[in-house]
This record gives sequence, structure tokens and C-alpha cells, in this order.
Amino acid sequence: MPTRRQLLEKWWLLPVGATVGVFGYMGYYASRVTFGKAKPGAPDYLAGPAVRVAALSELGSVWAQREFIYGKRPCILLRLPTATSGSLQVGNRHYAAFSRICTHLGCTVNLVKDPEVLAFSFSYRPPDGEPKLGCPCHFSVFDPLRSGEAVFGKARAPLPRVRLEVRGAALWASGIEAAPVLGT
Ligand code: FES
Repeated sequence: MPTRRQLLEKWWLLPVGATVGVFGYMGYYASRVTFGKAKPGAPDYLAGPAVRVAALSELGSVWAQREFIYGKRPCILLRLPTATSGSLQVGNRHYAAFSRICTHLGCTVNLVKDPEVLAFSFSYRPPDGEPKLGCPCHFSVFDPLRSGEAVFGKARAPLPRVRLEVRGAALWASGIEAAPVLGT
């Protein structure tokens, strides 16, 4: 059994151990959010009611947007410059829609068009210079051109995609991917 004196000689182990533990956890967390981001796979929609989202004529330019509610979840419809996994092509135009619920802790993401705003406010400079979906709470960034993948920040799961259909001259939503467990 160590004596009281022997124990007192080892007191320094406590702060050293605590410091090693804190920095170890910070390293683990940093590598987890940097390298542990999930890639969007093939779309896996849950069927839902058909809901009219917007007339095609309302999205007259690339990166035009319409916010809507689907399955009680705030969502966003975007006109994209190129096709992505899960996007809908109508003529030579491409559209995609996503849940706006951030997969980190559930705040509402917005389309950020200005790369300088992304650089200064989110500390993320998009390599392609294209708009991204940004979360104002802890500044996670999601890329619509990579099917909603979380590309920066604490969020690791991609934004769930919404299934789009064209009916006549309008875009409709008819399904949505399952919401991931927040904070995982
Ligand atoms: S809730 Fe979106 S980054 Fe934390």
C-alpha cells in the first residue's frame, strides 16, 4: 500500500492525465468530423404524398431556389447547373431538393451563394466556387452538387434528399429520405 508521502509525490499525474485525456478526445473528435463524413449513396426514398412545390417557370436561372414543407420537414428545391445522384432532369435543366434540417443538431440550413460569405462566416472556401447549404448554428456546410454531402463542420451525415417528379409544368415532391439520428 503506498504511503501518504508516496501519493503526494505523484500528485502531478492528475493534471498530466487530465490534459492528455482532453487533447486525446479533441484529436479523436477532430478526426471523426474530418474523416468520418458519410457519402450519399443511391437515393433511398420513403414514399409520401405528392405535393406541388413550384412551377418550372419559377426557377428561371441556375441556383434559383424555393423553400417548402414536405412531411412536416422544411425543405429546399434548387435548380442545379449539373446532374447529381438524386436530381431530376427536365429538358436540359437539373433540379434537386433536400431537407433543410441540419444533420448535426437540427438547425435550419440556408443556401449561401456568395463564396466570400462562406469563407468568412463559415471558414470554408468552396473549391468549385459554387453555392452551398450552410447551417448558421455551428457552421456546417453541405454541397448540393455532391447530393447534399456534409463537406465541412461538425455534421457528418448528408442532408436527406427529396424525390422530385415533373407533372405538367410543375415540380412535385413525392418522397423523402429518412432523417438521420442527429448528432451521430
Ligand atoms: S446544428 Fe448545424 S452545424 Fe450544428
